[in-house]
Amino acid sequence: MKRDGFGSRFGALVAMAGSAVGLGNLWRFPYLVGENGGAAFIIVYIILCFLICLPIFISEFVIGRRSQKNAFAAFRDLSEGSAWRWVGLFTIIVPLIVLSYYSVIGGWSVDYLLKALTFSFTGGESQSAFSTMFTGFVSSTWGPLAAHTAFLLATTLIVVIGIKDGIEKFSKVMMPLLFLIVLVIAVYSLTLPGAKAGLEYLFSPDFSKLTGKSVASALGQAFFSLSLGFGTIMTYASYVSKKDNMMFQSTATAVSDLMFALIAGTAIMPAVFAFGINPQSGPGLVFETLPYVFGQMPAGGVIAILFFLALLVAALTSSISMLEVAVAYLVEEKKFSRVSACVVLFVLCWIVGAVCSLSFGPLSNIQIGGGNLFDFFDNLTSNILMTLGSLLTVIFVGWRLKKTDVYDEFTNGGTLSRNAKIFGVLWFLIRYIAPLAVLSIFISGLIA
Ligand code: ALA
Repeated sequence: MKRDGFGSRFGALVAMAGSAVGLGNLWRFPYLVGENGGAAFIIVYIILCFLICLPIFISEFVIGRRSQKNAFAAFRDLSEGSAWRWVGLFTIIVPLIVLSYYSVIGGWSVDYLLKALTFSFTGGESQSAFSTMFTGFVSSTWGPLAAHTAFLLATTLIVVIGIKDGIEKFSKVMMPLLFLIVLVIAVYSLTLPGAKAGLEYLFSPDFSKLTGKSVASALGQAFFSLSLGFGTIMTYASYVSKKDNMMFQSTATAVSDLMFALIAGTAIMPAVFAFGINPQSGPGLVFETLPYVFGQMPAGGVIAILFFLALLVAALTSSISMLEVAVAYLVEEKKFSRVSACVVLFVLCWIVGAVCSLSFGPLSNIQIGGGNLFDFFDNLTSNILMTLGSLLTVIFVGWRLKKTDVYDEFTNGGTLSRNAKIFGVLWFLIRYIAPLAVLSIFISGLIA
């Protein structure tokens, strides 16, 4: 049977951009920028994105498209059956862990979209009322579990349909919509009196705030945001046509992800500052601060609906890419049907996600390293496992694959002359700069 794949170049691009653009762009990037020196941080972030992450992205692309297989088989076949296949298995397990806790937050956005649709964020409430509302919600048992179930079910249903008819079609409709919504909110946000302070927070450069730790955060954020080191790009690349130009696809994904993060920052921070609030990161920003801000601003009810819709869509286009990694593995290696693979993985991720969800309430007494189980999974995957996955991937391409094969794949058999011209630089980045930089930034982040 012919393997499913993306039907068009645009489809492949929006699916990859969809995997990249997610919660990371909306709730971590704007805060990290503000905390770590504004434009100074953005400059470092851009350098890391293009000098280190882009070569890693292309490495994943090479592995996926060369093999046209799932991540496990890709590593196994390209290394002629060596122990590298266990790295492939590693990149299949990590996205399942991420998906499990990601689905909990996806569930929160479902719940908050429903709250927005019933105009629950009204101006009469104090800021602390929204914190109480959020804490009350996440620490309860059934509401978040139901929302997590709904989100994971939606993810599974899209993936079950397949690559061309499920993932690609969904991304083709939702990604342009997502960009449009965030752009509308950004333009609106900029018209609010006092918006300038938010722009200053985001964009005025302060190099004194740049430390080893902030460089490590920039790298961690870039990995998470570009979905690197956990099999997703590799798996999506295995569905990309041999005729497509991977340099174009990879750069376009990285640029869209960056643009989206900057627009998201411009949508959120000016509004937060216009109402004299100190920004937070993560759930606090999105589920406590912003509902208060929406309650204060003119037409805030509509903006709230748009925002939580955007959050949900951004989360879904990322979560489907995480599920697909293991679905491809079970279907191709373990001969599951697509439906049964999806059902098994749904159950598995539901259970782990449910534990994460309950770790804010009934299971909050279980603490690992000073945080609950949710924090533990989040820290473990985004700070350690993704970095490790990226490092191993780039070492695999730079040191295990033959240079001529990588060249062949990158230039479509030598037919893409521009790619051929830059291959020397790319090869140097993949072989030396990216692994060394990842390793040193990772270690300096650990000891800082
Ligand atoms: N890349 C996805 C995000 O930013 C995981 O949320």
